Formats: sequence, C-alpha cells, structure tokens
Amino acid sequence: MTNNSTIDRKDFLKQVGMGFGAIMLMNCLQSCSETEIPDPNPMPNTGKLDFSIDITASGNTALQTKGGFLVVSDKKVIIARTLADQWIAVSSACTHQGTTINYRANSNDFLCPNHQSTFSATGAVTKSPASSPLTKYNVTFSANTNTIRVFE
Ligand code: FES
Repeated sequence: MTNNSTIDRKDFLKQVGMGFGAIMLMNCLQSCSETEIPDPNPMPNTGKLDFSIDITASGNTALQTKGGFLVVSDKKVIIARTLADQWIAVSSACTHQGTTINYRANSNDFLCPNHQSTFSATGAVTKSPASSPLTKYNVTFSANTNTIRVFE
C-alpha cells in the first residue's frame, strides 16, 4: 500500500515532463508564429536620414526668414536659410564634444558656442578645436507645400 502524500517517482517525472513539454511547445509556437507573420504594411528602412518639416508649423517659422535657422533636435540636424535664400542642412552636434551649433547668417557658417569651433556651410572645419567635419545633408524645398525635405 502506498502513502497518499507521496508520489511514485515515475509518475512525478511523467507529470513534470508533460508540463515542461507543454511550456516549451507553447514558447516555440509563439515565437514561430511571431516571426512568420509578414508585416502587412512593410516600410523600407534604409537607415538613412530622411524627413520633412512644414516651415509654417509652429516652432518652424524661423525658416520663413532669410538668415533664419532651426535645430531639429530629435534628428540632430540644423537647417539654415541663407541670406541668399539657399537651404543648408548639417548635423547639429559639434564634432568636438557634441554641443549644439548655431548658424551665423552674416558669415554663412556654423559656430559652436562651447569652444568656438566654426564650420563652413558645407560642414568643413574652419576653426579648431573640432577636427572632423559636420555631416552635410541634401535639402529640397517645395514652395507649394512650404515643406523642406532633408535627406542623405
Ligand atoms: S564642443 Fe564644440 S568646440 Fe568644443
């Protein structure tokens, strides 16, 4: 006669094994089904910077004036409208220690307020201590939609 509070070793292993197997099967089915369901709206992700802004939108109006500039913080890009009505976009983080740079319309260049490095309109270093250029981006402007597109 067996004691009710004990379980046969074979039965115990069978129960544990079935429970473990069920858990593993569920995990496998879950992960398999997650990776095999295709995205219904696939978006090509090239990893390259490409965004647009409306210069009439609140916060972007500095670009409505020649000589104005705007830092798009979440993209780490500074966009400038030159006095000659050209568009420039470069990376906004100084290559020395990462301080956000400013645009100087009169000299058509960029100044880092931290240690006064300067960069040309193409992003080249014109005054140290920065030694690496800024990344220059392409810019197009649509007068119909008042939209600037910045892209690599
Ligand atoms: S952080 Fe820009 S010059 Fe030092």
